[in-house]
Amino acid sequence: MSPGKGLKRSRRPSLVARCREAGGIVIGCVQTKGGAGDSTLAYNLAHEYAQLGASVLLIDGDIQQTLVDAANARTVAPILTVMPYPHESLWQDLPRLRGGYDVTVIDGPGHHVAMTMAVITAVALDKHGVLLVPVGASIADVRPTRRDMAPLLARAEGLVPWKLRARTVLMRFDTGETVTTTVREALAEPPVVAAPLAAEGLARRTIYPRSLETGLAVCELDSRSAAKAEVAAVAREVAELALSDVVLK
Ligand SMILES: Nc1ncnc2c1ncn2[C@@H]1O[C@H](COP(=O)(O)OP(=O)(O)O)[C@@H](O)[C@H]1O
Ligand SMILES: [Mg+2]
Repeated sequence: MSPGKGLKRSRRPSLVARCREAGGIVIGCVQTKGGAGDSTLAYNLAHEYAQLGASVLLIDGDIQQTLVDAANARTVAPILTVMPYPHESLWQDLPRLRGGYDVTVIDGPGHHVAMTMAVITAVALDKHGVLLVPVGASIADVRPTRRDMAPLLARAEGLVPWKLRARTVLMRFDTGETVTTTVREALAEPPVVAAPLAAEGLARRTIYPRSLETGLAVCELDSRSAAKAEVAAVAREVAELALSDVVLK
């Protein structure tokens, strides 16, 4: 073996280092349909990035403060900063708020209010912003999402010179059930929500309600769980998207 062989590792910087180098990334979880899973997705993604070593700001944009409550339920030290900010000026204030954080995750209100548009606009204006639209695994969830979210995303895209980076994330699906295939197909049909479906989704698992109940994210509750693996996969895909160059219209 030649000297140094085997020690040679990829020189590619870590995902977190790349986020830092880019000046930080921003992820907004938004839906107009209540109970879709915005807060579950935002909380678990934010903690996944924090566990990877990123400095993370989690902005709770919901007046109901679901994530502030979750964070307050923790019996162990926080690994990120949670900031309640249910203010419509968020779209103007975000550059100042997100400061030097590697990753900023924003949880929207989960229904159709001005604050939802404020979150969408704030993320759309960010050069490293990605919008995530969680969608329940039923055609009854796809229909209102398609009808209500598409105009909001289109409005936000009209404000920037680049194409909006957005993904729908399938939530609470029962692994192996045929309804999942039907829903995946329905979401994949253009013009969907103007947002392609993320490769991974968050299946229906009792660990997710437990994460908001205890304030411990799935990566903290069980680092070897299927939930941790699927959250990590979404986190990776979304960060790569946020780091990719903007595509001008
Ligand atoms: N993948 C999942 N598996 C099981 N329960 C889930 C999942 N995602 C969300 N939930 C539950 O569904 C409810 C609504 O989720 P939440 O994240 O609060 O939605 P939103 O913020 O969009 O209103 C909560 O009780 C949450 O624990
Ligand atoms: Mg919520």
